[in-house]
Amino acid sequence: MKISVIGAGYVGLVTGVCLSSFGHRVTILDKNNSKIRSLTKGNSIIFEKDLPELLRKQLKKKKLLLTSSYDDVAQNDVFIICVDTPFINKKPYKKNLIDSIESLLSVISDDSLIIIKSTAPIGTFREIESLVNKRKMKKNVSLCVHPEFLREGSAVSDFLNPERIVFGTSNPSDIDLFKEIYCKDSFQEKILIMSPESAELTKYAANGFLATKISFINEISRISERCGADIEEIKLGLGTDSRIGDQFLNSGIGFGGSCFPKDLQSLSFKKSQLRLPDGILEAALDGNELQLQNFVDKILEFKKENKISFENFSLCIWGMSFKPNTNDLRDSQSIKLVQKLIKHCKKINIYDPVCKKNEILKQFSNNSKLTIFNEKYKSIKNTVGLVIATEWDEFKNLDFDLVKTKVIFDGRNCIDKIKCNKNNIQYVGIGRG
Ligand SMILES: NC(=O)c1ccc[n+]([C@@H]2O[C@H](COP(=O)([O-])OP(=O)(O)OC[C@H]3O[C@@H](n4cnc5c(N)ncnc54)[C@H](O)[C@@H]3O)[C@@H](O)[C@H]2O)c1
Repeated sequence: MKISVIGAGYVGLVTGVCLSSFGHRVTILDKNNSKIRSLTKGNSIIFEKDLPELLRKQLKKKKLLLTSSYDDVAQNDVFIICVDTPFINKKPYKKNLIDSIESLLSVISDDSLIIIKSTAPIGTFREIESLVNKRKMKKNVSLCVHPEFLREGSAVSDFLNPERIVFGTSNPSDIDLFKEIYCKDSFQEKILIMSPESAELTKYAANGFLATKISFINEISRISERCGADIEEIKLGLGTDSRIGDQFLNSGIGFGGSCFPKDLQSLSFKKSQLRLPDGILEAALDGNELQLQNFVDKILEFKKENKISFENFSLCIWGMSFKPNTNDLRDSQSIKLVQKLIKHCKKINIYDPVCKKNEILKQFSNNSKLTIFNEKYKSIKNTVGLVIATEWDEFKNLDFDLVKTKVIFDGRNCIDKIKCNKNNIQYVGIGRG
């Protein structure tokens, strides 16, 4: 099968590389020329486990092509749209999606299937369907919705071992073609066929639920720290209940990334269009803001209690990506944390295992108070406190001989509190009264 994947980002690249490993001839297209040049040389532009090896393997086998030109994909049968759909100026931003469809319609031949994998606001399918109907003239172009559920950090494994594959269509004759894409037997029973609207809403509901679960445990953590309880003990008591499950019950400084915040905002936007009142989803977003502010307040309280002047208040922050095992800085709580703290500090040192120095500095308009380090223990020197903002494994087993700060602010509850205290370092975690 000849498949085109439009958009070579976190989703498109993984999708294209993995589908080519199934034996399909895949062309990944991105409007960003430099991205395509880099990928053609086998350089994966994102930090994602197993992706660079698989990319190079598929390029070598000549099963994977990369291009910036829509003309190069004209002869393909299936087009999977994986362009970004951000939330900008209080609205879902659909221009990239519409542009990619317009570009495709001007080149594709008869009998094509366009699959929307981008997370698109509910109602987008019908909007694009009418665009296709207006533009296709005599071409037989079908459209469907196929949301992606992979997680950055384990994206290749998630793509190759999906829990479900959602296919939203109003045209039953497309089902067989769709099944051919996921040609392995093990995938077939995972395919859930539904209406396009249900597929669109399923994606938002999944992210809305998971984000709400995080905001829920974070709310409990704020109660916990004011009444002498320990959220880590509560998590165990809650998560062992199979009705609840232990995933997404880690309390911390809140959720970030390119999906949860924007998908919740987008769903809330849809609700307001439907004249539905605010509810759980909006509370989950507000709770996320509150949780970060609560952590900042604790840091500033420490400064005040210890009578540390501005001149003497310097911090070291570890972890800038929105979660471990990725270099994605989009909507990261760590970035917001630095933005909130910077005016209270003489300087902030930053260490991240994979994010590049210039990418980090770009987030703060190259603020001169910030220094980015390549070595984590060097970054702590001459600072009052170490702040853990992202729970990378390499942070969990600290060498306490190399940590000489007065305090550790553990924004992800991933450091051993008892070891900390034994080493005469004050420990300030989340929800641990
Ligand atoms: N990142 C995730 O973990 C994740 C998970 C599930 C779903 N999604 C959804 O998948 C979609 C893609 O997300 P992403 O994180 O991969 O985005 P991304 O920003 O990493 O990549 C999008 C790519 O699309 C390209 N692009 C934009 N407009 C284009 C056009 N008209 N023609 C060709 N290329 C174009 C951009 O240059 C970019 O490289 C979004 O809708 C997102 O909500 C993301």
